[in-house]
Amino acid sequence: MSTMTTDQTAGAAVDRSETETGRRKLFVKSYGCQMNVYDATRMADVLAPEGYDETGEIAEADLIVLNTCHIRERASEKVFSELGKIRELKMERAAAGRETLIAVAGCVAQAEGKEILRRQKAVDLVIGPQSYHRLPEMLRLAKAGPVVETDFPVEDKFDHLARPSNAKVQSRGVAAFLTIQEGCDKFCTFCVVPYTRGAETSRPIEKIIEEATYLVQAGVREITLLGQNVNAFHGLDENGAPCNLSALVARLSHIPGLLRIRYTTSHPNDMTDDLIAAHRTQPALMPFLHLPVQSGSDRVLQAMNRKHRVRDYIDLIARIRAERPDIALSSDFIVGFPGETEAEFQETLDLISEIDFASTYFFKYSTRPGTPGAEMADQVPEDIKSERLARLQKLTDAQRHAYNAAAVGKIMPVLFEKKGRHPGQIGGKTPYLQAVHVDGPDHLIGSEALVEITGTSTNSLFGCLAEQIS
Ligand code: 5AD
Ligand code: SF4
Repeated sequence: MSTMTTDQTAGAAVDRSETETGRRKLFVKSYGCQMNVYDATRMADVLAPEGYDETGEIAEADLIVLNTCHIRERASEKVFSELGKIRELKMERAAAGRETLIAVAGCVAQAEGKEILRRQKAVDLVIGPQSYHRLPEMLRLAKAGPVVETDFPVEDKFDHLARPSNAKVQSRGVAAFLTIQEGCDKFCTFCVVPYTRGAETSRPIEKIIEEATYLVQAGVREITLLGQNVNAFHGLDENGAPCNLSALVARLSHIPGLLRIRYTTSHPNDMTDDLIAAHRTQPALMPFLHLPVQSGSDRVLQAMNRKHRVRDYIDLIARIRAERPDIALSSDFIVGFPGETEAEFQETLDLISEIDFASTYFFKYSTRPGTPGAEMADQVPEDIKSERLARLQKLTDAQRHAYNAAAVGKIMPVLFEKKGRHPGQIGGKTPYLQAVHVDGPDHLIGSEALVEITGTSTNSLFGCLAEQIS
């Protein structure tokens, strides 16, 4: 399961009005993980042939899609407060004679289904993450009254998704996401993903290569392969033979123009030797690994049903570092899992100190209905969770600052992705996923150049161009 939890809005404003073009406007807001960001782009792709152009302005949208996240209570509840505001907008537009359709997609849609219609009557369509290829048909039905579509269909949604235009791919930037695996069979006791995204499935190799080739031909230079359990990937190749993630990476690395490959999110138990070795042997595979461990206590790990011990994780990291000493490591942690004692929390702090992560994501345990964790005795009080979170944050902030500070003086290849915040600045990423800003020309966007790192700020690095390399 993936982490970088920013709210994202797909789309750039389009100036033409509906009356001029006969086209309508679509606003998609995504919550939660990168897979939702990817899904949002694919929903826009499926709706483009239906006459929908994306807009960044919610007030001018004829169709508003909230692509939701159910991973923690706060993420789920955000949706209902947002829907309250959208309802007002729908009423204002109706008063001006303009129709607005409201769709709730993603994991809250899957988990709550009809309950969403009960809580917010302005919603026209509730559609689960496995069905968004059916959006056009469902929207037609929704014109006649609210529709809920949360079945896990037998057909593969990816076979029914329209391709984006080259211009559309380019507007989304040089770093793209590509879902290769979905769902999870691990059933960690805190997690809703096995219920909202369903059983683990992998896409066929041929389809992934086709999509990646298409993206790269349109200008994409970095692809992050996505999956809730991406390193458990086991897609079939053209001959029907199973192919794992390292074999897929090797195949993708032959695509001319694809400079960087990343993958997320992985489970420690699926880190195979060949995948570890690929971090040394495949130059396009970036030296960054997000490998959530969740806790530093064996008792808590067992209660979480993680199926490995702390020692296994430490040994695994040692094996990974033996192959790729410079690899940057990142992890997720949950604080205040039911029954977590002060001593067990201290074990988490000890593990973090021992591993020395480049970055970490941490969350207060949030009770999710339907998961075994919700039934456990000894729920940890909120104030204790908050206090532990603050201590964990202090430690991990210090680690991240030290990691970034160690980059100063080094020369690294940076893939430039966009203009910087200030005129004349461009922004990109190091191989270790650190954001870097330099003074440089816009034409470098989409290529790698060597940068000497000269300084750091809270969340990014500064540097100056050393020499262009591609
Ligand atoms: N409460 C808090 N954090 C959770 N995560 C998953 N489920 C929960 C929950 N119920 C965290 C895990 C996971 C990340 C995506 O979200 O750390 O790796
Ligand atoms: Fe959730 Fe665990 Fe599956 Fe990750 S491995 S998606 S945390 S159940």
